[in-house]
Amino acid sequence: MHQLTNKQIILGITGGIAAYKSAELSRLLIDAGANVRVVMTQAAQEFITPLTMQALTGNPVHTKLLDPAAEAGMGHIELARWADIVLIAPASANFMARLAQGRGDDLLTTLCLATHAPIALAPAMNQVMWQDVNTQRNLKSLLEDGKIIMGPAHGAQACGDIGPGRMLEPAELLVLTAKQFELTVLSGKHIVITAGPTREAIDPVRYITNHSSGKMGYALAEAAVEAGAKVTLISGPVSLSAPPRVTLEPVVSAQQMYEAAMRLAPTCDIFIAPAAVADYSPANVAQQKIKSTPKTMMIELKQTTDIVASVAALPDKPYTVGFAAETQDLLGYAQNKLKNKKLDMIVANDVAAEGIGFDSDDNAVTLIWPDRNLTLEQSSKRQIARQIIQTISQHYDPKIHYGKITG
Ligand code: PMT
Repeated sequence: MHQLTNKQIILGITGGIAAYKSAELSRLLIDAGANVRVVMTQAAQEFITPLTMQALTGNPVHTKLLDPAAEAGMGHIELARWADIVLIAPASANFMARLAQGRGDDLLTTLCLATHAPIALAPAMNQVMWQDVNTQRNLKSLLEDGKIIMGPAHGAQACGDIGPGRMLEPAELLVLTAKQFELTVLSGKHIVITAGPTREAIDPVRYITNHSSGKMGYALAEAAVEAGAKVTLISGPVSLSAPPRVTLEPVVSAQQMYEAAMRLAPTCDIFIAPAAVADYSPANVAQQKIKSTPKTMMIELKQTTDIVASVAALPDKPYTVGFAAETQDLLGYAQNKLKNKKLDMIVANDVAAEGIGFDSDDNAVTLIWPDRNLTLEQSSKRQIARQIIQTISQHYDPKIHYGKITG
């Protein structure tokens, strides 16, 4: 069940007798490698206690929308951004109705309104309630809104009835949840991604670098693997572990990143460059530690080779996606880079805005092609990465590149 490794799951529990099964579901999700945070409605707490769910998941359980203590920890907007998926099991008839209406009158419904993550529901209710015209109308509207409906099963119910309305078993919900992360749009494709900063040595103990944490590049690698691609990640020095099934090519300097990129780019279909490569490196690296006696000193810098532009200039270039980190005139500078570096697409990233860009967990970007733009609102880097990969998979056409048609 590797698809769930490191996935961030909000398990929403609403009022129904099947709530006792949510305890087992949370354990199964955690055993499969997921991080689980539980949100319970008022009614759910009549069936199972928050303490039980807290003990099982090792995380505080969220129950109230207007709780200053909880908001000071992980507030509802943060929770909504944190989630890779919101799984509501059991989903009662009342909860389905409230969700279908777009209500935000408790924590769970508000979270559903505030998240970009997919929302899955495992309905559980009496068979007559399930077949009621109102529930069926709500179901139709939830499906039209893009919600994922898991089940319900048909069989004996807690109330003694037999019919449709039983919540699927936790093991079945586990498999269906894992499937949500199993995309194959890029299967058979090789994607090379650069990530993190580079370090440019001044002497044996000092170097020039920047604030890149690698989070954006690593999230893209994870999303590309999820989409079925073979992924090679050329990474500068960061403190992250490579996502499962990603081949890591560790490098330190811009020159090493350039060499790795030029070796791998001819083998790939798509090249994505979120790395914050140093634009300049010391012209001469001192062999011994430079003494700190002079009051001032000069370091002569020389320009590094532009990696993403070199890849885009290859005769049989891959679909090449650059990033543009800017502190002013974001779209204007990004459009220039798209054109000058002859890229197929560029991701414009405002690195002056609070809470996004370098080293943060969130990002907000604009995807730019020669003829159009697409803005992705602030969300976790993992969500942004999924949207970027999905968008690239829709636009990627091995025969058409910027400025030329091949094949
Ligand atoms: O790593 P994180 O902390 O998660 O932060 C993510 C990020 C802010 C670093 C990322 O989202 C981002 O914006 N990356 C681009 C960083 C950058 O160096 O941008 P730039 O505008 O200076 O460069 C434009 C493009 O040229 C980039 O694709 C860059 O990788 C590439 N480049 C630059 C210099 C060089 N010598 N070779 C290159 O390939």
